[in-house]
Amino acid sequence: MADTTLMDKLVSLCKRRGFVFQSSEIYGGLGSVWDYGPLGVALKKNVKDRWWNAMVQGRDDIEGLDAAILMHPKVWEASGHVAGFTDPLVDCRQCKNRFRADDPRIKGTPGQPDAQCPVCGTRGSLTEARLFNLMFKTFMGPVEESAAVVYLRPETAQGIYVNYLNVLQSSRQRVPFGIAQIGKAFRNEITPGNFIFRTREFEQMEMQFFVQPGTDPEWFERWRGWRMEWHRSLGLDPAKLQWHQHTGSELAHYARAAFDIQYQFPFGWQEIEGIHNRGDFDLGRHQEYSGKKLEYFDQAQNQRYLPFIVETSAGADRVTLTLLVDAYREEQVEGETRVVLGLLPSLAPIKAGVFPLVKKDGMPEVATTLYHDLRKQFACFYDESGAIGRRYRRMDEAGTPFGITVDGETLSAGTVTVRHRDTMQQERVGMDRVGEYVKERL
Ligand code: GAP
Repeated sequence: MADTTLMDKLVSLCKRRGFVFQSSEIYGGLGSVWDYGPLGVALKKNVKDRWWNAMVQGRDDIEGLDAAILMHPKVWEASGHVAGFTDPLVDCRQCKNRFRADDPRIKGTPGQPDAQCPVCGTRGSLTEARLFNLMFKTFMGPVEESAAVVYLRPETAQGIYVNYLNVLQSSRQRVPFGIAQIGKAFRNEITPGNFIFRTREFEQMEMQFFVQPGTDPEWFERWRGWRMEWHRSLGLDPAKLQWHQHTGSELAHYARAAFDIQYQFPFGWQEIEGIHNRGDFDLGRHQEYSGKKLEYFDQAQNQRYLPFIVETSAGADRVTLTLLVDAYREEQVEGETRVVLGLLPSLAPIKAGVFPLVKKDGMPEVATTLYHDLRKQFACFYDESGAIGRRYRRMDEAGTPFGITVDGETLSAGTVTVRHRDTMQQERVGMDRVGEYVKERL
């Protein structure tokens, strides 16, 4: 299967089955902004819950936080985003299109008479490169003036740094400890794309771990190991996961060391999570810009210091896309193409489809009662329309691991057919046991 074909097929499946829709579609869509439908929101929630369980619930040394999207504008001066979160851009005076200055389609040097616009082909119409800040700006209060400018946060991390002392004191944690947060971030990306891979509004799952200076390389290595393990635990093909180390100019302004976890997408190896050793850059800058002491007194060491920070930063949308890409497969079954999302049962948006074999002989009534009982235990879907084979296929595309069918034998012997998504094998299970049966396999 050609790589672009796989992405096209996935985008179309996501729309057909209600995973992801284009934002404001009836108005022609909004560039690189997407909405999650019923199955998509459930899948992304399962990703976020799994992250939260691993990072917060399952550990004694990490606390949760939900900081506001809008923050004091000085935060973004301190963080370096006002000065440095920029891309060099050029405009075409003729066709009014805008490009990154390093767009490989541009022939010649922007600003010079020989430079040619890649869209309209005009020579000499491209401006010199100008820095363009990727943060979205808005105004706080009724007056639209520069003093009222606030930004939509481009990362969730800063909400953690400015709250670090509040969390430390209220939770009675001690260094080393971490703060984790899941939330929206916004970037006015110039070259977004690849479906929900790079969007202008997205969700991050970030954790900042505060450590004693000098112990940061050790913690950095530990977090690298744990984070790669977490991605593997999602059932992703391990051969499609790799490390990419940032070197030289690739390193962000705050980072002493950085590694990306990359996945092999149909459009190439791309980052899904970054692990960064941020040293004391962030707390140092916030201490300087706010004038508030952010040092920690380490009683055990009888020492005062600014903790160093090891950050793990993953995109909830990217991880969701990774799961969809990794799970998608097509098989030939009896001359027809079967599309399956082989998601881990624990991540699947719907755990079981419940079906009456036919719409008569009391089967819909029994199946509906069973459905109402099972939905108290896990996410289920009831479907009585169309041939049973078609209903199974719809559930295969949704990644539903179990199909439970009420048939003639249910009425006579109290058993149902359980059909397995991956093998398509069927077995009979007692109707009173089927809830436990599914739960054991989630
Ligand atoms: N606080 C550090 C930070 O934000 P980053 O490498 O810029 O680091 C971290 O972003 C993660 O956020 C990325 O690995 C990716 O998963 C996600 N992410 C970043 N920009 C994104 C975008 N435009 N669309 C979707 N996800 C994005």
